[in-house]
Amino acid sequence: MPIYQPTSENIERAAQLLRDGELVALPTETVYGLGANALDIEAVQKIFSLKGRPSYNPLIVHVLDIKSAKKLAAVWPQRAQVLAEAFWPGALTLVLPKCDTVPDIVTAGLQNVALRAPSHSVARQLLEIAQLPLAAPSANKFTQTSPTRAQHVQQSLGDELFILAGGACEVGIESTVLDLTGDVPVLLRPGMISTADIETVLGANLDIEYSNDDSNAPRRAPGQVRIHYAPRAKLLIYRSSSERDVLVQNSVAHDFMIGIIAIDDELEMQRIVRLPNNALQYASQFYNALHELDAQGCDVILVEALPQNSEWDGVRDRLGRAAS
Ligand code: TXA
Ligand code: MG
Repeated sequence: MPIYQPTSENIERAAQLLRDGELVALPTETVYGLGANALDIEAVQKIFSLKGRPSYNPLIVHVLDIKSAKKLAAVWPQRAQVLAEAFWPGALTLVLPKCDTVPDIVTAGLQNVALRAPSHSVARQLLEIAQLPLAAPSANKFTQTSPTRAQHVQQSLGDELFILAGGACEVGIESTVLDLTGDVPVLLRPGMISTADIETVLGANLDIEYSNDDSNAPRRAPGQVRIHYAPRAKLLIYRSSSERDVLVQNSVAHDFMIGIIAIDDELEMQRIVRLPNNALQYASQFYNALHELDAQGCDVILVEALPQNSEWDGVRDRLGRAAS
């Protein structure tokens, strides 16, 4: 099946496929998702098969609004209300105790469900017409780079899938995941909605459970697999022009085709993608740069190290995982 433009007719077709227990790839503002009716066990099983995703890795359930989220959460604390009012629709996922209606396969057997109301207009139209909660991981094979364009989905998951197009994803990396099941909110995955943004709204500090250092310390957040978001090419980070020169020389010695993703580096070379020194704009273009350099056949992608400030936490996390 080709890529479908988001006409009302095609959105209706997609909604019908979802009602029939089939998969549909849909655009969201973060990355493209591989959606299924979250209440249909066999449909959700198809997500795991097509992605090659291990069953211990729970899925985010996408809803239209707070009202539909509350139907899937066993409790809806004041914190969830405040955060959803501040950031929904948008790139924040909230983990809450689940209702019995949410099948175990969606939550990988956990008693909690991850909920998010996406802001992309095509995702919202689809949710509205289908009238279903949609389980949707990123629409790529397990461990590969998430798709931020409809063609990325087609390249990763093939021609059998119904793909709704929705342009380039604006946020460009996956949502921030926040666990609200305990006394203190816990950040499970950083994203472009930052800890500072969340702490301001809550008027309280977060616990942080992800780690983006280079250690192999076990992660408590399910599915936060160390090697993730990886391009086909080997990805290496450089912190200075001398470090970069060594990596370039080594790559040339091995006859490797080199791609570079730079911010300030003024090197002149073929296959350099220059990204802005602005975390929001960088995030929006980062995965696309990886996809493009992969498509050009690069064996190695050298990436200029990112600034250390907290607004870069989300992108730094993804870069660290893609490079490991
Ligand atoms: O931006 C996004 O979040 C995208 C778009 C499609 O919405 N989706 C996405 O899904 O990134 P996925 O499956 O690639 O990542 C979901 C992450 C998992 O890595 C897992 O850590 C966390 O969400 N998660 C899901 N359900 C959870 C649960 N019940 N408890 C704790 N964490 C959960
Ligand atoms: Mg993913």
